[in-house]
Amino acid sequence: MNQATLHRLLPHKGKSPQELFDQRLATNLTLIQKQFFSLYNEEQHKKHFQKLLKLLPKLFLERPEALRMQDLERLESGNWHQSEKLMGMQLYVEHFNKDLKGLQGKIPYFKELGVNFLHLMPITTRPKGESDGGYAVNNYLEVDKKYGSKKDLLELTKAFRKNGIYLMLDFVVNHTSNEYSWAKKAKKGDKKYQGYYYTYEDFTIPAEFEKTLPEVFPETSPGNFTHIPEMDKWVMTVFNSYQWDLNYTNPEVFLEMFTNLVKLTDMGVDVVRFDALAFLWKKIGTISQNLPEAHNLISLFRMCLQVVAPGSILLAEAIVAPTDIIKYFGEEEKKGNECEVAYNASLMALLWNSIATKKTQLLYKSLMHVPQKPKDCTWVNYIRCHDDIGLGYENHLIQELGWNPEMHRKFLLDYYCQRLDWSPAMGMLFMYNPKTGDGRITGSAASLLGLEKALKTKDDDLLEESVRKIIMLHGIILAFGGIPLIYAGDEIGTLNDYSFQNDVSKKGDSRWVNRPLQDWETISTLDNQDSPQSTIFHALKKLIKLRKGNTIFADHNNLELCYTGNDHILSFERVQDQKGLLIICNFDENAQVIDSSWIKKLGYFSKGEPMDLVSGEKVELNSALLEIMPYQMLWLMKS
Ligand code: GLC
Repeated sequence: MNQATLHRLLPHKGKSPQELFDQRLATNLTLIQKQFFSLYNEEQHKKHFQKLLKLLPKLFLERPEALRMQDLERLESGNWHQSEKLMGMQLYVEHFNKDLKGLQGKIPYFKELGVNFLHLMPITTRPKGESDGGYAVNNYLEVDKKYGSKKDLLELTKAFRKNGIYLMLDFVVNHTSNEYSWAKKAKKGDKKYQGYYYTYEDFTIPAEFEKTLPEVFPETSPGNFTHIPEMDKWVMTVFNSYQWDLNYTNPEVFLEMFTNLVKLTDMGVDVVRFDALAFLWKKIGTISQNLPEAHNLISLFRMCLQVVAPGSILLAEAIVAPTDIIKYFGEEEKKGNECEVAYNASLMALLWNSIATKKTQLLYKSLMHVPQKPKDCTWVNYIRCHDDIGLGYENHLIQELGWNPEMHRKFLLDYYCQRLDWSPAMGMLFMYNPKTGDGRITGSAASLLGLEKALKTKDDDLLEESVRKIIMLHGIILAFGGIPLIYAGDEIGTLNDYSFQNDVSKKGDSRWVNRPLQDWETISTLDNQDSPQSTIFHALKKLIKLRKGNTIFADHNNLELCYTGNDHILSFERVQDQKGLLIICNFDENAQVIDSSWIKKLGYFSKGEPMDLVSGEKVELNSALLEIMPYQMLWLMKS
């Protein structure tokens, strides 16, 4: 049982908010103490621990009243993050509708589509010019002028609460920008703030680190350290040279960052996206990712936040190997006590593999390989986000299929990045390293799935196929269990945006190709046009409605993979009490058949033919075989 569940079980009716705070602190204190002293030596850092104990009640008193009430409601309502009612969208405010006010004006659009969970990309102040899309933070609590003001943000979050919309914002916890006040002071020679980062007099220690540290952006930001002439020191910059890694071996950094975190949630943030959290702890001789200390640190953040602001939860942005991702939910005593939500990056990457190969075996093998997540935690399921698609499949599983991992990855890059004439995909290469052949893929969902090529070549068959693929992949993330997150624009099949190539601050980063402007002109025509955009929009809208209308879609850790004996098919079942929902998808361009006896055994035909929720029609069998059309998705309901 995780700590949140424990808080719920403890008597809370009739208790004052302060009493409940004390109860939460008492319940979490042992874990807080343990994680704190696992990172910071007890003899040396007793004072810092005391400081933390003073900080918690102070921050609690500063929490706005409306949010404290909401915290209590959430205590009652349980694991709201697992609800079938949640439907997410990710967007850049400036690409969506100009600024925060403009975004607020689009609440009716979200309502129409059924979206009620929004991830806004960074809106805080950042350096002029390159800023990694705002992931270089100048101040965690200041809204950048281009989005409006803090007042606009508070008004927006109030309007969201009124309309039942949840908000997710980033907390760029691993690094600040080189213009952050601490970095500025460090540059001026202030030793205290130099100690907030990993700074070195010469390259001796960096050279030791470099022996094992991989490069995140090898093309644009090779190496992991940057020389800062103002202070004549080297600073660790694992991402871009203007993103300085925070030194969490210093407890002051934790205390300050925790304060920033709470204040962020005080603005009405429901889910905090813990950016790049796998990188939080560094150690010479390792790749400095997924280290046990990073997990202790995350759990420390979590346990403390739960005491002060229990209504806000954490999302792990850990784009690492499948077996490592799951660890961000916490293991052993930390189980369910790190992040409540994590990106299902494995499913995402595997779906793209299945589209290119038209086969699902790697998907099955990989999903089987991942241990069950803790029951109070859930996924964010997505097919595209603002980042690239990495090919982080397990080599040994690729080999088990008789494929060569290196050649397989090359095939995927070729397929998606316009190196094969016959491929319908129009993606771009990202961070390609010609020496190793490693690379990642960028491109919007629609362009990667063939819509751009179909429109360009006026190929109607390809157009139909790509629309089917777009709907099927979204249908999978809607049904998989967790929070489905659509990338803004994908609901109308928005194509790649190549305009970044004309912007000096963006042209080195092809991820901008999949960050297009929201196309309101097309959206205004959706109701009266028979276009691919309109087909996609209305299909997704319908699927979202179906999801929200049936508790079987909620995440109760109730997903079973089903083996059909046909390598082109993905099938899984969601089971709840006597109810059942069977999802069957065909990843092939040809119709496929599967034996239906196992479906009958599961009870789907016991009261006649089952209903396919997607088409609204009953499913018929042809001599005991079930036929699934190219890129068709069935949602069979057990009656
Ligand atoms: C995360 C973000 C990515 C950013 C990186 C560094 O991975 O998703 O866009 O570049 O963190 O902050």
